[in-house]
Amino acid sequence: MFYKRLINYFKLSFLRYVFGRFNLVRKIRRVINKNFFNSKIFYDLNDYVLSYIPQNEILKSLVTQGFSKEIHLKKEINDLILSNYKNSKFISYKIYNQERNEFKNFIDLKNSKIDIPFFELQNSNLIPLFDKISRSKLLMKIAKDYLGNVKKIDTKLTYSTVVNLEDSEREKYRQTVKWHYDVHDLNFLYIFFYISGADKYSGAHEIIKNSHNKKSFFKHLIGSAKKNDSDLRKFYNKENFFIIEGSPGDGFIEDTSCFHRALKPSLKPRLCLQFRYH
Ligand SMILES: [Fe+2]
Repeated sequence: MFYKRLINYFKLSFLRYVFGRFNLVRKIRRVINKNFFNSKIFYDLNDYVLSYIPQNEILKSLVTQGFSKEIHLKKEINDLILSNYKNSKFISYKIYNQERNEFKNFIDLKNSKIDIPFFELQNSNLIPLFDKISRSKLLMKIAKDYLGNVKKIDTKLTYSTVVNLEDSEREKYRQTVKWHYDVHDLNFLYIFFYISGADKYSGAHEIIKNSHNKKSFFKHLIGSAKKNDSDLRKFYNKENFFIIEGSPGDGFIEDTSCFHRALKPSLKPRLCLQFRYH
């Protein structure tokens, strides 16, 4: 029974890994989601997330550019997270040997003086707030319109530090500093909030605009979803490479089937809240 389940899981995840990268498959998935599934996730009637432009313009930008940076958290909500995150557990995982490091709070991490680039934070006091933010009407409406439906939301609060490490070592700690597109489902949407703000010196996100609509079958869709910088710069116009910077509380919505990467924080760490809608 256990083995059967295990085999099915790998079959399903493998199918997602293969087919999730094709635009046409994602479009079909959207139609199926919209017409044959009912969402069991309900809006929360808070006003924690606001937008600078109308919702239909955000959607238009998602379709044409692959992202929109026109959302932000209400200041008091962002301040609440900023004043509480240091009480979280800071946890890091190393992918290949599954090494796990856990620090009981921010002071514990600072005292350790270990060079780890990327942490996931766990804080039970913040979970209800994150749940409300993720189900705020604005975000749910955008996610529903773009995906056809919302069946699941994953939440992460992450902390990227200023350390001197090679990219390959950072990737082992799940800090995605190499160009890639995401393939973990047939259709998905990410929403990020820069809780501490981010610019190119503090871990901002970089995207290749419109690359969710434009990939070469042989160069990009076959094989690894990770690609190197010089090959991508030969294929895409330089105006399409865009660093998404923001003040504390600013957010953005992204179809992460666009090529993207996290820049390495060189001057300041980055605290980021992220939601993944399926
Ligand atoms: Fe990614």
